[in-house]
Amino acid sequence: VGERFVSAPGKAILHGEHAVVHGKVALAVSLNLRTYLRLQGTASGQICIHLPNIDTFRAWDVAALQPLVSDRKGGTSLVERLRAFAGVAEGSTDSGNMAVLAFLYLYLSGFAGEELTLINKWAFQGEKIIHGNPSGVDNAVATWGGILRYHAGKITPLSRVPLLRILLTNTKVPRSTKLLVSGVKDKINKFPSIMVPVLESVDAVSRTCELTLREMATAGASAQQYDTLEELMDINQHHLSVMGVGHPALDTLCRLTLAHGLHSKLTGAGGGGCGITLLRPGNTTHPHHTPVLHTSSVRSAGISEHTSLSL
Ligand code: PMV
Repeated sequence: VGERFVSAPGKAILHGEHAVVHGKVALAVSLNLRTYLRLQGTASGQICIHLPNIDTFRAWDVAALQPLVSDRKGGTSLVERLRAFAGVAEGSTDSGNMAVLAFLYLYLSGFAGEELTLINKWAFQGEKIIHGNPSGVDNAVATWGGILRYHAGKITPLSRVPLLRILLTNTKVPRSTKLLVSGVKDKINKFPSIMVPVLESVDAVSRTCELTLREMATAGASAQQYDTLEELMDINQHHLSVMGVGHPALDTLCRLTLAHGLHSKLTGAGGGGCGITLLRPGNTTHPHHTPVLHTSSVRSAGISEHTSLSL
């Protein structure tokens, strides 16, 4: 084995996080912030992988990978075999998990080509190991990129959507997706008559957002449609707080951005983590006045630009 590179995009969930675990609709987009993996063979028969974004390095004897070769198509025994490898990406992003699995597939297939469905299936197994009860939306968007609707395992790429810009803010508050997902489940079990309508309402937010995006793409974006997108973000942020996955740092983000007329919500598991803020076409970012860490364009349709801001 010489030297090979694999990468996978990070993602933001526009609407539907947590509710998607309970069969509701989610809308997710990939970002051009990617996780990179470098694979190197050594003369001593070891194989090394390096994920520089998450400061991870691991090495195995090539022979240790051989059991995976005998079960390339997946299944429960493969999950057991992947457990050691998924540990590489533990505590990192889904794209880290994705990059490890993509590498393993490419390695086992002799780098003969890609098979995204299989890579997605493996990444989902990695998600199960790391997060316990994942919906599958994260690995889907890291595999296929673009903007997609995810509903009960069904992936629908949204090709006709307007270009939107978001501010991506990292609160730097660490959290465990696994604990947050199980906390929401506990709340649903304890207060079903209260929480089930909340999940239904999140589902309606995702569907209304999708409809609005499609209308914006067809007829051109109006100020009223931006108003709608902003209101949907506010509504969903409140729903997520009701689910118990808010955090004071996320409240600060919402308050600070609202003081500038901008609307924000958490994205992903919440409890800290990242938030997104919708930017209108006229909004500009001021790199000299705000602690902007990174600005770039996303790789695919949907959101044209994002800016990372550290609170
Ligand atoms: O922890 P994150 O940012 O990868 O987001 C997880 C999204 C959830 O909806 C909370 C869980 C899931 O599996 O869909």
